Amino acid sequence: MKQIFLLLTLGASVLFSADVVAVGDRYQDSASCKACHMRIVTEWEESWHAKSHYNNDEYFQKSIDYVSRKTRKSLNSIKVECATCHNPRISVTSTGMDYEIDAVMGLDKGSAVNRAVNNDAISEGINCVVCHNIDKIHAEYDDTKRGINRVEWTPSGTMTGPFKDAKSPYHKTIHHEFMDKNPNQLCFVCHANDRSKKGLVFSNMQDEYKGGKNCVECHMGPKRKDVAATYKMYDGKAKIRNVRNHGFAGAHVESMWKDALSLALKQQKSNLMITIKNSQPHNIPSGFGSRELLVEVSYKSGSKIIDTQTISLTTLYTRKKGEKPTIPHLATAQSKDMSIPAAGKKVLKVKKFDGASSVEVKIYYRLVNDEVRTLLDLKDNLWSKKYFITEASLKLK
Ligand code: HEC
Ligand code: HEC
Ligand code: HEC
Ligand code: HEC
Ligand code: HEC
Repeated sequence: MKQIFLLLTLGASVLFSADVVAVGDRYQDSASCKACHMRIVTEWEESWHAKSHYNNDEYFQKSIDYVSRKTRKSLNSIKVECATCHNPRISVTSTGMDYEIDAVMGLDKGSAVNRAVNNDAISEGINCVVCHNIDKIHAEYDDTKRGINRVEWTPSGTMTGPFKDAKSPYHKTIHHEFMDKNPNQLCFVCHANDRSKKGLVFSNMQDEYKGGKNCVECHMGPKRKDVAATYKMYDGKAKIRNVRNHGFAGAHVESMWKDALSLALKQQKSNLMITIKNSQPHNIPSGFGSRELLVEVSYKSGSKIIDTQTISLTTLYTRKKGEKPTIPHLATAQSKDMSIPAAGKKVLKVKKFDGASSVEVKIYYRLVNDEVRTLLDLKDNLWSKKYFITEASLKLK
């Protein structure tokens, strides 16, 4: 039975295996775009897309190590799996049992897998030639196909962009709607249906999305006038265009959190009602699992704090129902979704502290909750840092 199943899955993986198109040396890294697109390259360097490679993000790296350890699969095969979205220009898209055996025996040094994983061409993570070399997004594919498995690439040296009339001396250009009128489609290639190895979907921003503004309007900022390239292409001039910022500011950027949620307090007899409103078109927290909101409630008597409680709004993951805690990627089950729904609200009811004359509530965000930070032994302060969102206070009766 097992053998038949293996054959079937092998067959399926051949049918759906992604096309690999090599990127020529002239286009591989962002440095080769600097001469004409310096502003964009510098903005992108600050983004977390630029940190999506194993070597550049401690959380990602330790998650891969953890998955490899717990599933007893080689580190490289997990790297290939996660590359689907984190490093989609990788030249190998799946690994098989024969590779696992070679890896255990230490015979994989010169293998295609080893070369693909360690290739300089992917060391920048989600760089220019990821987004700007996408030629087709297969919306008709089933939901589980993401990243590299959902797209087709342009030939090396052809850049997809938002303009219908762009000309460049360095590369060909091509216009697509997903760079222009319908950019969410591009974002959902990866920011949707992120699932564990057991099929548990722990993030699906496409499902959550309530419409209204597009992702780029907030995470690439409003359109403004500037040149797209400094090269004087048009009668000795560069065209002034509508451009956006390539910093993709998000959860790792403190200033983005200020007022991302709003807060209202009300006393109802001996209870305090805390209403948290989310006006964004997706849940908060969203995106990656194990993110956390902290609601800090401080009771005062006069100006003195007499009691503080912290409520954690996060999702916890287990390998089997009710069993050991784990990270999202290995989960079979998750606790109740505690996020504040898109364009919605959540009301928390807490018992008022006796003898308090007023209460002060502050909301913070953390990138990783205590459980997962401990499991992975994350060292950088970034992961435990509290990002301030908003606060409110109320006199109590
Ligand atoms: C995560 C996807 C993504 C990555 C990575 C990315 N871009 Fe873009 N880029 C876009 C989108 C989307 C637009 C269209 C923005 C709009 O006009 O709404 C765009 C627009 C542009 C434009 C047109 C002018 C402008 O600023 O809007 C240029 C030129 C460009 N990108 C170059 C680059 C270069 C060079 C890099 C690498 C340093 C890069 N892009 C990385 C998604 C990306
Ligand atoms: C020698 C100069 C030069 C270099 C080097 C260069 N570009 Fe361009 N690029 C241009 C010019 C000029 C335009 C057109 C600008 C305009 O029409 O306003 C352009 C336009 C673009 C666009 C928008 C295309 C469209 O149709 O909307 C993208 C995307 C882009 N470049 C990406 C890149 C990437 C990625 C690299 C590096 C691999 C790169 N470019 C290197 C000069 C250059
Ligand atoms: C090829 C897959 C892919 C595409 C396409 C893509 N992203 Fe991402 N994005 C990622 C990954 C992976 C990360 C996390 C990288 C890391 O943290 O190491 C990320 C991170 C981000 C972040 C930072 C989140 C944080 O936690 O700070 C924002 C914001 C973001 N993406 C917005 C966008 C938008 C907007 C688009 C569409 C224009 C887009 N992305 C397209 C894969 C992608
Ligand atoms: C109206 C503005 C707005 C729009 C539109 C929007 N976002 Fe956000 N997004 C925010 C704010 C505000 C936050 C919280 C602060 C931060 O992380 O930037 C956020 C957070 C995020 C995060 C981090 C989530 C977390 O809790 O850790 C990701 C990833 C993200 N957005 C991706 C997207 C994608 C993909 C889209 C398109 C479907 C999108 N956003 C549309 C405003 C917006
Ligand atoms: C379906 C596409 C997809 C696949 C496959 C994928 N990721 Fe991600 N991953 C993302 C996106 C998109 C983000 C950014 C979401 C956010 O920041 O909220 C992300 C963010 C992360 C983060 C958070 C990084 C940070 O800096 O906060 C970790 C850790 C992570 N992924 C681990 C993994 C591991 C391990 C694998 C392979 C087992 C993997 N991912 C496979 C799409 C994917």
